[in-house]
Amino acid sequence: MAGSYAELIRDTRYEAAVDLGMVTLFVQSLAQRPATVLDAGCGTGRMITHLSTLDPELVIAGSDLSPGMLARARSQHPGLELVAADNASLPFADERFDGVLAWYSTIHTPPHRLGAIFEEFRRVVRPGGLVLLGFQAGTGDRRLDKPYGHDVDLVAYLHHTPYVRDALIHSGLAPVAVLDRSARGGGARRRGRGALRPVPPPPQGRCSRLELRFSTVWK
Ligand SMILES: C[S@@+](CC[C@H](N)C(=O)[O-])C[C@H]1O[C@@H](n2cnc3c(N)ncnc32)[C@H](O)[C@@H]1O
Repeated sequence: MAGSYAELIRDTRYEAAVDLGMVTLFVQSLAQRPATVLDAGCGTGRMITHLSTLDPELVIAGSDLSPGMLARARSQHPGLELVAADNASLPFADERFDGVLAWYSTIHTPPHRLGAIFEEFRRVVRPGGLVLLGFQAGTGDRRLDKPYGHDVDLVAYLHHTPYVRDALIHSGLAPVAVLDRSARGGGARRRGRGALRPVPPPPQGRCSRLELRFSTVWK
């Protein structure tokens, strides 16, 4: 599956510009230079490439649950510290990082397990450091049918934003900024020269919005 993911989602060209704006703000807001960043759930490492483009001085480490994804990331980023780990149990010292990026890496985590992950992010980020989460907002889950062309079962969870907010605060992460945008192609669709045509809302439990949460650590 890692190979198909790397082929299909090679870089950030399909990311909405406003989402990448949040990533840029995250990098620019890191307090020290050179800053240390963990890409938690780094997958094939495409966001590591993007982070390095934004600031070549960043000291980046990555972690992911999937050995296949990590093997890809290692081939793209030889020399970086890229480790196999669950977001809920990271093998890094307390307060090691200035920032943690979790870009769609909580989407396979059921809501009741998010708290353990946020506590781990808070533990590895220094006081005043930043955590940026990107995930699809909504409720329910979707069983992905042959994800990336492979015959495996994969569930993607939508996360209810008030629940995420409460879980972050409970973990000691104070919300700084929230971007909550419509799914592209849902709600209103661009047609012709900028005309907007309303389209029916997605069915209950389907992807409705993308939400990015930008939080800082209080201790
Ligand atoms: C949709 S991919 C996103 C990968 C990467 N962040 C990107 O934007 O290309 C989700 C990734 O999260 C990883 N993942 C899922 N659950 C995880 C967990 N509990 N701990 C660490 N990684 C996890 C998966 O192995 C996969 O590589």
